[in-house]
Amino acid sequence: MTARLLRGRTLSFKARPQARDDHASYVYEADGALLVENGLITASGSYAEVASKAPAATEIIDHRPCLLMAGFIDPHIHFPQMQVTASYAANLLEWLNTYTFVEEQRFADPAHCARFATLFFDELLRHGTTTAAAYCSVHKGSTDAYFAEAQRRNLLMVGGKVMMDRNAPEALTDTAQSSYDDSKAVIADWHGKGRNHVAITPRFAITSTPAQLEAAGALAREHPDLLIQTHLSENDAEIAYTLELYPEAKDYTDVYAGYGLLTDKMLLGHAIHLSDREMDAIADAGSVAVHCPTSNLFLGSGLFDLKRLKQHGVRTAIATDIGGGSSYSLLRTLDEAYKIQQLRGHRLPPIENYWQATRGNAEALGLVERIGTLEPGTDADIIALDARATPAMQIRMETVQTLEEELFLMQTMGDDRSVRAVYVAGDAVKR
Ligand code: GUN
Ligand code: ZN
Repeated sequence: MTARLLRGRTLSFKARPQARDDHASYVYEADGALLVENGLITASGSYAEVASKAPAATEIIDHRPCLLMAGFIDPHIHFPQMQVTASYAANLLEWLNTYTFVEEQRFADPAHCARFATLFFDELLRHGTTTAAAYCSVHKGSTDAYFAEAQRRNLLMVGGKVMMDRNAPEALTDTAQSSYDDSKAVIADWHGKGRNHVAITPRFAITSTPAQLEAAGALAREHPDLLIQTHLSENDAEIAYTLELYPEAKDYTDVYAGYGLLTDKMLLGHAIHLSDREMDAIADAGSVAVHCPTSNLFLGSGLFDLKRLKQHGVRTAIATDIGGGSSYSLLRTLDEAYKIQQLRGHRLPPIENYWQATRGNAEALGLVERIGTLEPGTDADIIALDARATPAMQIRMETVQTLEEELFLMQTMGDDRSVRAVYVAGDAVKR
């Protein structure tokens, strides 16, 4: 593969920003460059420095004045819900029963799965999302289609067969045993194939019997390196019903802990309505609270308590939760996250938001050695962001003077139009 040099303004995070002026948390080069060879970033720094290291035949691609960053990471999204987005419902449980559990049944058909695998990754990449952690459907075939297409495109994707054996239509339920067997087969077939990562995926406590959470716990013990993903404390009625189904649990978090699922591999989608005890338990376990702001607003689920979670030492992530979420764009998602914190009286700095969507989400997935930064040696999943993508943004940019202002403008007004180029393992998939 020929070497490529991408020239632009480079931004990469070193650590979670502790304040809006925490300049030590990131590296920014006003005239920067990345050298890309064999799918990896092999040099990054100033253009002059990187150009001096480039082999003779290097292809030079000039992205100035765009900002080059690590590709966005979406750590909570539903592959079979592209046609659920924008469904009119009063709340989570009505939305699940009326639309979601109907639509997901269509993924019993392999042809449907294959069609949507193509559409799904097209849409993620167009929005600058180069890695996602997705829930597939209950059908093993949906997972096969998802990982086959990810491998074909050389994408680093996380996914899992949803385990659900009650409180859903019969056509959408498995059993404790079949969910264990199918998950084992998915792991054997796909984990480590290409850049694929399999996640153990019990949907949530309501749709799993104790026997199935037992099976999920067994999978977690047998495969301690695998991520686990589920939903936690999204909606008041959901919480009340969960506690009826699991009366012996101290609280919703304790349901998962009781089956050995509350570990440092666990991604807890939503995690909105938590007691101090639950936050402490999640922090002690090293599990991750995944904020899904557009979904939480759309379904009226509640306002993620970022400040309190951080005070308790809980690891965090940010995600779209398509189809409860309303946009594939991490930029739109950062905007809504900011607004939710505004409503909570907490000011969320733009640099912390962009850290979360890149390095922070990579840390949440345990993949920061591979993705989420522009560090040499990591995978060349890179995006070029344009703060002048629309006429209105262009006009506003005339008065912008700092990087913080530019990032804030892009999260407030930007979407897929701001994503001018996307590279996957060094190859352009959007230009
Ligand atoms: N809880 C259980 N399943 C789902 C789902 O598909 N979406 C959301 N937002 N919450 C859930
Ligand atoms: Zn979800």
